[in-house]
Amino acid sequence: MLITIALSTILGAPGAIPLPDAPAAWRPAVEKAQEAGRAFQKALQARLAEAMSQGGPPAAIDACATDAGRIAAEAAAASGVKMGRTSDRLRNPANAAPDWTRPALEGAVGKKGAEVAPLAVDLGGKVGVLLPIVIGSACLGCHGPAATLQPKVKEALAARYPADRAAGYAVGDFRGFLWVETAK
Ligand code: HEC
Repeated sequence: MLITIALSTILGAPGAIPLPDAPAAWRPAVEKAQEAGRAFQKALQARLAEAMSQGGPPAAIDACATDAGRIAAEAAAASGVKMGRTSDRLRNPANAAPDWTRPALEGAVGKKGAEVAPLAVDLGGKVGVLLPIVIGSACLGCHGPAATLQPKVKEALAARYPADRAAGYAVGDFRGFLWVETAK
Protein backbone atom coordinates (compact mmCIF):
# COMPACT_ATOMS: atom_id res chain seq x y z
CA MET A 1 0.00 0.00 0.00
CA LEU A 2 2.73 2.43 0.98
CA ILE A 3 4.63 1.51 -2.15
CA THR A 4 1.53 2.11 -4.26
CA ILE A 5 1.10 5.55 -2.76
CA ALA A 6 4.74 6.43 -3.35
CA LEU A 7 4.56 5.25 -6.95
CA SER A 8 1.36 7.17 -7.55
CA THR A 9 3.03 10.29 -6.29
CA ILE A 10 5.89 9.85 -8.71
CA LEU A 11 3.62 9.10 -11.66
CA GLY A 12 1.50 12.17 -11.02
CA ALA A 13 -1.98 10.94 -11.90
CA PRO A 14 -2.39 7.35 -10.72
CA GLY A 15 -4.85 5.34 -12.76
CA ALA A 16 -5.66 8.27 -15.05
CA ILE A 17 -5.94 7.19 -18.67
CA PRO A 18 -6.35 9.56 -21.65
CA LEU A 19 -9.99 9.15 -22.73
CA PRO A 20 -9.23 7.67 -26.17
CA ASP A 21 -7.15 4.92 -24.48
CA ALA A 22 -9.84 3.97 -21.94
CA PRO A 23 -10.99 0.33 -22.08
CA ALA A 24 -13.76 -0.28 -24.64
CA ALA A 25 -15.98 -1.59 -21.82
CA TRP A 26 -16.00 1.89 -20.29
CA ARG A 27 -17.21 3.58 -23.46
CA PRO A 28 -20.93 3.75 -22.55
CA ALA A 29 -20.01 5.27 -19.16
CA VAL A 30 -17.63 7.75 -20.78
CA GLU A 31 -20.23 8.78 -23.35
CA LYS A 32 -22.80 9.25 -20.61
CA ALA A 33 -20.34 11.45 -18.72
CA GLN A 34 -19.63 13.56 -21.81
CA GLU A 35 -23.35 13.92 -22.49
CA ALA A 36 -24.01 15.03 -18.90
CA GLY A 37 -21.15 17.52 -19.19
CA ARG A 38 -22.57 18.99 -22.38
CA ALA A 39 -26.05 19.29 -20.83
CA PHE A 40 -24.60 21.08 -17.81
CA GLN A 41 -22.54 23.49 -19.87
CA LYS A 42 -25.45 24.32 -22.14
CA ALA A 43 -27.80 24.97 -19.20
CA LEU A 44 -25.23 27.06 -17.33
CA GLN A 45 -24.42 29.16 -20.41
CA ALA A 46 -28.11 29.81 -21.00
CA ARG A 47 -28.59 30.86 -17.36
CA LEU A 48 -25.54 33.15 -17.49
CA ALA A 49 -26.64 34.78 -20.74
CA GLU A 50 -30.11 35.40 -19.30
CA ALA A 51 -28.72 36.97 -16.11
CA MET A 52 -26.21 39.00 -18.13
CA SER A 53 -28.94 40.50 -20.32
CA GLN A 54 -31.10 41.26 -17.28
CA GLY A 55 -28.58 42.79 -14.90
CA GLY A 56 -25.09 42.73 -16.41
CA PRO A 57 -22.05 41.08 -14.84
CA PRO A 58 -23.11 41.47 -11.16
CA ALA A 59 -26.36 39.60 -11.91
CA ALA A 60 -24.40 36.95 -13.79
CA ILE A 61 -22.10 36.55 -10.78
CA ASP A 62 -25.16 36.05 -8.56
CA ALA A 63 -26.48 33.50 -11.06
CA CYS A 64 -23.15 31.65 -11.06
CA ALA A 65 -23.05 31.64 -7.29
CA THR A 66 -26.61 30.51 -6.70
CA ASP A 67 -27.35 28.40 -9.78
CA ALA A 68 -24.15 26.72 -11.04
CA GLY A 69 -24.23 24.06 -8.32
CA ARG A 70 -27.96 23.49 -8.70
CA ILE A 71 -27.70 23.24 -12.50
CA ALA A 72 -24.85 20.72 -12.16
CA ALA A 73 -26.87 18.67 -9.68
CA GLU A 74 -29.93 18.72 -11.95
CA ALA A 75 -27.98 17.72 -15.06
CA ALA A 76 -26.24 15.01 -13.05
CA ALA A 77 -29.52 13.63 -11.67
CA ALA A 78 -31.09 13.64 -15.16
CA SER A 79 -28.21 11.49 -16.45
CA GLY A 80 -27.78 9.37 -13.30
CA VAL A 81 -24.23 10.59 -12.63
CA LYS A 82 -22.40 12.71 -10.06
CA MET A 83 -20.81 15.85 -11.46
CA GLY A 84 -19.17 19.12 -10.55
CA ARG A 85 -16.56 21.72 -11.50
CA THR A 86 -13.26 22.08 -9.76
CA SER A 87 -9.97 23.91 -10.11
CA ASP A 88 -6.50 24.24 -8.65
CA ARG A 89 -7.39 27.95 -8.23
CA LEU A 90 -10.81 27.99 -6.67
CA ARG A 91 -13.18 30.89 -6.50
CA ASN A 92 -15.65 29.04 -4.29
CA PRO A 93 -13.99 26.67 -1.79
CA ALA A 94 -17.18 24.57 -1.95
CA ASN A 95 -16.00 23.45 -5.41
CA ALA A 96 -12.99 21.67 -3.87
CA ALA A 97 -11.87 18.66 -5.88
CA PRO A 98 -12.97 15.15 -4.92
CA ASP A 99 -9.91 13.14 -3.84
CA TRP A 100 -9.70 11.07 -7.03
CA THR A 101 -9.33 14.19 -9.20
CA ARG A 102 -6.43 15.67 -7.20
CA PRO A 103 -3.44 14.00 -8.91
CA ALA A 104 -4.71 14.99 -12.37
CA LEU A 105 -5.46 18.49 -11.13
CA GLU A 106 -1.97 18.84 -9.67
CA GLY A 107 -0.52 17.58 -12.96
CA ALA A 108 -2.35 20.30 -14.86
CA VAL A 109 -1.27 23.27 -12.72
CA GLY A 110 -0.01 26.17 -14.84
CA LYS A 111 -0.72 24.45 -18.16
CA LYS A 112 -2.55 25.69 -21.22
CA GLY A 113 -5.91 23.99 -21.71
CA ALA A 114 -4.71 22.39 -24.95
CA GLU A 115 -1.91 20.63 -23.04
CA VAL A 116 -4.32 18.86 -20.71
CA ALA A 117 -5.97 15.68 -22.00
CA PRO A 118 -9.45 14.53 -21.03
CA LEU A 119 -8.93 11.60 -18.65
CA ALA A 120 -10.70 8.52 -17.37
CA VAL A 121 -9.98 7.15 -13.89
CA ASP A 122 -10.87 3.69 -12.59
CA LEU A 123 -12.94 4.15 -9.42
CA GLY A 124 -13.79 0.49 -8.87
CA GLY A 125 -17.49 0.17 -9.65
CA LYS A 126 -17.44 3.57 -11.33
CA VAL A 127 -15.51 5.45 -13.98
CA GLY A 128 -14.37 8.97 -13.20
CA VAL A 129 -14.17 11.27 -16.20
CA LEU A 130 -12.23 14.54 -16.19
CA LEU A 131 -13.00 17.06 -18.93
CA PRO A 132 -10.62 20.04 -19.04
CA ILE A 133 -12.17 23.50 -18.82
CA VAL A 134 -10.35 26.20 -20.78
CA ILE A 135 -10.55 29.97 -20.47
CA GLY A 136 -12.21 31.66 -23.46
CA SER A 137 -12.68 35.37 -24.09
CA ALA A 138 -16.21 35.19 -22.58
CA CYS A 139 -14.65 34.22 -19.24
CA LEU A 140 -12.28 37.17 -18.90
CA GLY A 141 -14.90 39.60 -17.54
CA CYS A 142 -14.92 37.56 -14.33
CA HIS A 143 -11.70 35.50 -14.47
CA GLY A 144 -9.30 37.88 -16.26
CA PRO A 145 -6.46 39.87 -14.64
CA ALA A 146 -7.67 41.82 -11.59
CA ALA A 147 -6.64 45.14 -13.15
CA THR A 148 -9.00 44.53 -16.10
CA LEU A 149 -12.11 43.59 -14.11
CA GLN A 150 -14.93 46.15 -13.97
CA PRO A 151 -15.15 47.78 -10.53
CA LYS A 152 -18.68 46.37 -10.04
CA VAL A 153 -17.43 42.88 -10.85
CA LYS A 154 -14.54 43.25 -8.41
CA GLU A 155 -16.91 44.43 -5.70
CA ALA A 156 -19.38 41.60 -6.26
CA LEU A 157 -16.59 39.02 -6.29
CA ALA A 158 -14.89 40.43 -3.19
CA ALA A 159 -18.20 40.43 -1.28
CA ARG A 160 -18.95 36.80 -2.06
CA TYR A 161 -15.51 35.25 -2.38
CA PRO A 162 -12.98 36.71 0.06
CA ALA A 163 -10.52 33.90 -0.78
CA ASP A 164 -10.99 34.12 -4.57
CA ARG A 165 -8.05 32.68 -6.51
CA ALA A 166 -9.79 32.53 -9.87
CA ALA A 167 -8.82 35.87 -11.43
CA GLY A 168 -5.69 36.51 -13.47
CA TYR A 169 -6.35 34.04 -16.28
CA ALA A 170 -5.63 34.55 -19.98
CA VAL A 171 -7.41 33.03 -22.99
CA GLY A 172 -6.27 29.44 -23.49
CA ASP A 173 -5.29 28.84 -19.86
CA PHE A 174 -6.32 25.62 -18.14
CA ARG A 175 -9.04 26.64 -15.68
CA GLY A 176 -10.04 23.34 -14.12
CA PHE A 177 -11.95 20.12 -14.69
CA LEU A 178 -15.53 19.17 -15.08
CA TRP A 179 -15.55 15.88 -13.15
CA VAL A 180 -18.14 13.17 -13.63
CA GLU A 181 -18.61 9.84 -11.84
CA THR A 182 -20.64 7.22 -13.71
CA ALA A 183 -21.40 3.56 -13.03
CA LYS A 184 -19.34 1.17 -15.18
C1 HEC B 1 -20.32 36.68 -14.76
C2 HEC B 1 -19.08 36.26 -14.19
C3 HEC B 1 -18.48 34.95 -14.67
C4 HEC B 1 -18.20 34.57 -15.96
C5 HEC B 1 -18.45 35.35 -17.25
C6 HEC B 1 -17.55 33.26 -15.86
N1 HEC B 1 -17.45 32.88 -14.54
FE1 HEC B 1 -16.62 31.15 -13.83
N2 HEC B 1 -17.23 31.63 -11.97
C7 HEC B 1 -17.87 32.79 -11.61
C8 HEC B 1 -18.29 32.71 -10.23
C9 HEC B 1 -19.05 33.76 -9.45
C10 HEC B 1 -17.90 31.43 -9.78
C11 HEC B 1 -18.14 30.80 -8.41
C12 HEC B 1 -19.40 29.96 -8.52
C13 HEC B 1 -19.75 29.26 -7.24
O1 HEC B 1 -19.92 29.97 -6.22
O2 HEC B 1 -19.88 28.03 -7.27
C14 HEC B 1 -17.23 30.78 -10.90
C15 HEC B 1 -16.71 29.51 -10.85
C16 HEC B 1 -16.13 28.87 -11.90
C17 HEC B 1 -15.60 27.52 -11.84
C18 HEC B 1 -15.68 26.56 -10.65
C19 HEC B 1 -14.44 26.48 -9.85
C20 HEC B 1 -14.22 27.59 -8.86
O3 HEC B 1 -13.21 28.29 -9.00
O4 HEC B 1 -15.05 27.79 -7.93
C21 HEC B 1 -15.08 27.25 -13.07
C22 HEC B 1 -14.39 25.97 -13.51
C23 HEC B 1 -15.32 28.42 -13.90
N3 HEC B 1 -15.94 29.40 -13.15
C24 HEC B 1 -14.96 28.52 -15.23
C25 HEC B 1 -15.41 29.54 -16.07
C26 HEC B 1 -15.19 29.56 -17.51
C27 HEC B 1 -14.40 28.52 -18.28
C28 HEC B 1 -15.82 30.67 -17.99
C29 HEC B 1 -15.95 31.11 -19.44
C30 HEC B 1 -16.54 30.16 -20.35
C31 HEC B 1 -16.42 31.36 -16.84
N4 HEC B 1 -16.14 30.65 -15.71
C32 HEC B 1 -17.12 32.55 -16.94
C33 HEC B 1 -18.10 33.89 -12.42
C34 HEC B 1 -18.01 33.87 -13.79
